[in-house]
Amino acid sequence: MPTSFAGKRIVIGITGSIAAFKVAGWVSTLAKEEARVTVIMTDSAMRFVTPLTFASLSGEKVYSDMFADGPDISHINLAMDADLFIIAPATAHTIAKLAHGLADNLLCATALATRAKMIVCPAMNSRMYSHPATQANIAKLKELNYQIIEPACGMMACKDEGQGRLPGWEQVQEIFLRSVSAGDLSGQRVLVSAGPTREHIDPARFISNRSSGKMGYALARTAYRRGADVTLISGPTHLPCPEGVKRVSVQTAEDMRTAVMEHFPQATVIIKAAAVSDFRPETKYTDKVKKEQAGLSLGLIANPDILQELGERKNAQQLLVGFAAESSDFLSEGKRKLQKKNLDLIAVNDITREDRGFEADTNQITLIDHQGVIELPLVSKERTADLLLDRIVTLLQTRRESHYLQ
Ligand code: CTP
Repeated sequence: MPTSFAGKRIVIGITGSIAAFKVAGWVSTLAKEEARVTVIMTDSAMRFVTPLTFASLSGEKVYSDMFADGPDISHINLAMDADLFIIAPATAHTIAKLAHGLADNLLCATALATRAKMIVCPAMNSRMYSHPATQANIAKLKELNYQIIEPACGMMACKDEGQGRLPGWEQVQEIFLRSVSAGDLSGQRVLVSAGPTREHIDPARFISNRSSGKMGYALARTAYRRGADVTLISGPTHLPCPEGVKRVSVQTAEDMRTAVMEHFPQATVIIKAAAVSDFRPETKYTDKVKKEQAGLSLGLIANPDILQELGERKNAQQLLVGFAAESSDFLSEGKRKLQKKNLDLIAVNDITREDRGFEADTNQITLIDHQGVIELPLVSKERTADLLLDRIVTLLQTRRESHYLQ
């Protein structure tokens, strides 16, 4: 099931910090992504940004006064069963009130009443943030099951440097998406390998392939959104590490093998999206090979087949997924690799087309498992990742059910 904000009911509580203006951007993005956003502001928040800003961006009434609507508490009911309740920016004062269960304004009262998942994003001067009183209150909030998104470091509005800045949308959106997702991979430890490997010839040159890592990174990102604990073993790519994902960077196929084998025993789902070089130069020159050596021929030796080794080692609880990069005989090659490498699922890619496979932002894969073949549509790599994870969730479910029946 793809994870998105569409149709989700999200409450955002805004307190009195200059960072309130940044949250206007969050509300705008959430509304564009078809979330229903209800904003609750404290009196101090309204000194920084007007309620009209948030009402215009969310298309919804903004609430601030506990008594403004008399006995009509429908807005509180709305907040009570929201999909997600975010307090951002959260001042030291509001954090202290929440930690002690105080309810002297609409925001704190609603936060006490709600049973929605709560995320608090502190933003304040770094000395206020590091003060033991604030830290004790934050620790108390964690005990009370509030999720805290740590403030970022850098220059603050007061020109102090330190930790206290509200993080940007890029950092928080993945955490919010994970919170509103169905969480159908929660409890799973997913190991993804991605990108190419580089097999060095000399200090300047290497053998590699066209893999950009986009498919593997999309899988890591979407698995995190769906609740998994994700480790990404990545060959050299230009992609930023997806939020919430633990990345281990490697260069060669042998480095990748070492890293994968180290993380494999703890993993419950292993997805090998990496384009591992099948060969490496027999000799790695320590000095740069000079042109005068033209005519030099390069001897190649085979790299370990990491996936094959995982197939030999996997236990009955682990679900092993491979990719197959093919230019012809897609189905028969996919089926052959599924059997030969003892996989639970294989995703077959046509690498001859520009709109799928290597480097493209879109992909079209065929999934083959022991139940049959599923042809996925040509869609973004992110959507492909979600569809592949859907299949993994189904296979895990089938496995659980057959275990109970035994
Ligand atoms: N793979 C691997 N180690 C290798 C080569 C491939 O772990 N040395 C994995 C890839 O990560 C992928 C799968 O094996 O999940 C299939 O890779 P592919 O290049 O399609 O197939 P190969 O097994 O290398 O076979 P061939 O090149 O002959 O098609």
